Amino acid sequence: MTTSEELHKRRVEAVARGVGSTVPAYVDRAGGGTITDVDGREWIDFAAGIAVTNVGNSAPRVVEAVRAQAERFTHTCFMIAPYESYVAVCEQLNALTPGGFEKRSALFNSGAEAVENAVKVARHATGRPAVVVFDHAYHGRTNLTMALTAKNMPYKHRFGPFAGEVYRVPMSYPLRDGGLDGAIAAARSIEMIEKQVGAENVAALLIEPIQGEGGFVVPAPGFLPALREWATAAGVVFVADEIQTGFCRTGYWFACEHEGVQPDLITLAKGIAGGLPLAAVTGRADLMDAVHVGGLGGTYGGNPIACAAALASMETMRELDLAAAARRIGAVMGERLRATAAGDPRVAEVRGRGAMLAVEIVQPGTLTPDPAATAAISAACHAAGLLTLTCGTYGNVLRFLPPLVISDDELGRGLDILAAAFG
Ligand SMILES: Cc1ncc(COP(=O)(O)O)c(C=O)c1O
Repeated sequence: MTTSEELHKRRVEAVARGVGSTVPAYVDRAGGGTITDVDGREWIDFAAGIAVTNVGNSAPRVVEAVRAQAERFTHTCFMIAPYESYVAVCEQLNALTPGGFEKRSALFNSGAEAVENAVKVARHATGRPAVVVFDHAYHGRTNLTMALTAKNMPYKHRFGPFAGEVYRVPMSYPLRDGGLDGAIAAARSIEMIEKQVGAENVAALLIEPIQGEGGFVVPAPGFLPALREWATAAGVVFVADEIQTGFCRTGYWFACEHEGVQPDLITLAKGIAGGLPLAAVTGRADLMDAVHVGGLGGTYGGNPIACAAALASMETMRELDLAAAARRIGAVMGERLRATAAGDPRVAEVRGRGAMLAVEIVQPGTLTPDPAATAAISAACHAAGLLTLTCGTYGNVLRFLPPLVISDDELGRGLDILAAAFG
């Protein structure tokens, strides 16, 4: 059997250096809340492939749906010869996403592609050029989505010039904005848009309801509703990027539901299809249908195997009530994290919703980010067999995204390792 070390040697010779990996362990198999590497070592999975395998790796329904679809046909291209599963995924997304209005969906391959297409739809429908995004935002790695993403290293560094007509305004970040009230934080951002961009030039306001790569930043209550209200009044398309927060992750199907916000468009990917590449834009029918025939699409968008996996994943989420599972995981994890953090001056905040929780690490007695301490805690987790990720503009946030089917035992063992890593 080939070892991780041997595979790593081959990888260095074959794979471009720019593609990184969190741990040097090569995967043999994965399921439930664990990953087993080719050396036979078991890892407890607090990453879920960055919030993708919400239903777990190789979830039984997904495996069966993929197998059955692969036997029937693997690809015709929906733009050439359509098929039912694409339509069925769109029907389900239209029904599941917030907003009682008539909706349409279109399917793509990756989150970045969904975001690009949401911007296309908003620009086309409004006839306006500008897109407003927020500090700490992450929306992808394509040229437009790099422009929409805030952080330079590693996402943007020396990859410019970037797409134009992108404007950035402050995010509500209670730990770092003095606990500004949500409505006041929104007013600050809105004033900046009106004075520096002009509302009449803005096609879309694009926001993650809880920021992902930017540090699991949960805006103060009232921030999202105030922006939603302003966008309606200004004729601006409110786009929620639910690529990381969607599909039961935060304890609801979509994170916007925590504050009853109904976006005009929602971008979806990651958790949608149990690990197969699929993404979507779902939203108001009048906006989506404004685009001429042939204006949206792509060779692989809504691939039949990915659609079959998405239907099976959504069925699994309903059957196992994974939104409730996320709330349960959040309660157990939140309590343990707060206990671990109590009296540890490096922990500035434990935050998040449902099974999307994080700890922000600072130099004791300050709000100065401590990425070195964060990396050290993360490395201690990895050494002990717990797969955790870091994030944040300052690289000082440990984030936890277990599969929503993780067992109580696996969750408990993972939290024990985490507590020990804090020392
Ligand atoms: C909020 C958000 N938007 C967009 C993306 C980009 O998705 P993808 O990597 O599938 O292009 C991500 C990925 O992490 C994300 O978290």
